[in-house]
Amino acid sequence: MEKYGLIGWPVSHSLSPPMQNAGFNSAGIKADYSLVEVSPDKMDIVIPEMKNEFCGWNCTVPHKQHIIEFLDDMDETAKVLGSVNTVVNSNGKLKGFSTDGYGMEISIKESFNQDIAGNSFLFIGAGGAARAVALYFALQGAARIAVLNRTVEKAEALSKEISEVNAKIETTADTINSRDFDPTIYNIVIQCTSLGLHEGDPSPYDVSRLKPNQNVVDMIYKETDFLKKAQGLGCKTADGRGMLLFQGVRAWEIWTGKKAPVEDMRKALYDAMK
Ligand code: ATR
Repeated sequence: MEKYGLIGWPVSHSLSPPMQNAGFNSAGIKADYSLVEVSPDKMDIVIPEMKNEFCGWNCTVPHKQHIIEFLDDMDETAKVLGSVNTVVNSNGKLKGFSTDGYGMEISIKESFNQDIAGNSFLFIGAGGAARAVALYFALQGAARIAVLNRTVEKAEALSKEISEVNAKIETTADTINSRDFDPTIYNIVIQCTSLGLHEGDPSPYDVSRLKPNQNVVDMIYKETDFLKKAQGLGCKTADGRGMLLFQGVRAWEIWTGKKAPVEDMRKALYDAMK
């Protein structure tokens, strides 16, 4: 039985086990994906043990940066981000990847039939989740990226990083509801703040400023106030389930080298959310 898992602290809320195990079952691979709770001070002990036992694993907070010191190699996105969410163990050599940006890319392709290259994106929020996707989109050749954030310094810092990754991108940074900023010129709007995670959270953005022909995606996988308002305006919308699914699909494909049984993984993930 091959072993895979998710390391984090805590990890009890994760939906990855049903999704990943459905993929293994469907493909006839004898493998088990489990949750591995590791406190930061135990990484030095646990990671060498996992190197002996696990074929690969995902990393979540607070280990996405700390894991890097244990790795032999990283893909380009993980190097740029300085953050890893997927590790593959090839005969004791550990390689790290970051699959969140890819997850959002495929979700956008599936929901709106839109590509990254040459396209324009508005990120609402500038935290870790926004950064992982925005820098990946910069690597993939987005034409224009704006970042709006409550704390404008963080929007400016992310915008600067985007330009450093790809100097050709037209970047803008502003406060979240700045009146001077025109959001309607961006083809795809991505809600990346944590507002909406909890029942009753208001939208962080004045959605009435968008236009009905804009494509709007929320990274949160529940129906948020932001997304409901965007639907009310007539925008094409997608919630965060697609990103979650496809970041996991990419990890599964890195580990197995096979094409993932996406629909079986999707069904298991969506069922586990009910
Ligand atoms: P994650 O890893 O999910 O991105 P994070 O790095 O803590 O989490 O980032 C949270 C994001 O949500 C930030 O953009 C944060 O804005 P600030 O940088 O100004 O804190 C945003 N956020 C959280 N609560 C918010 C609120 N009440 N209104 C607007 N933005 C909020």
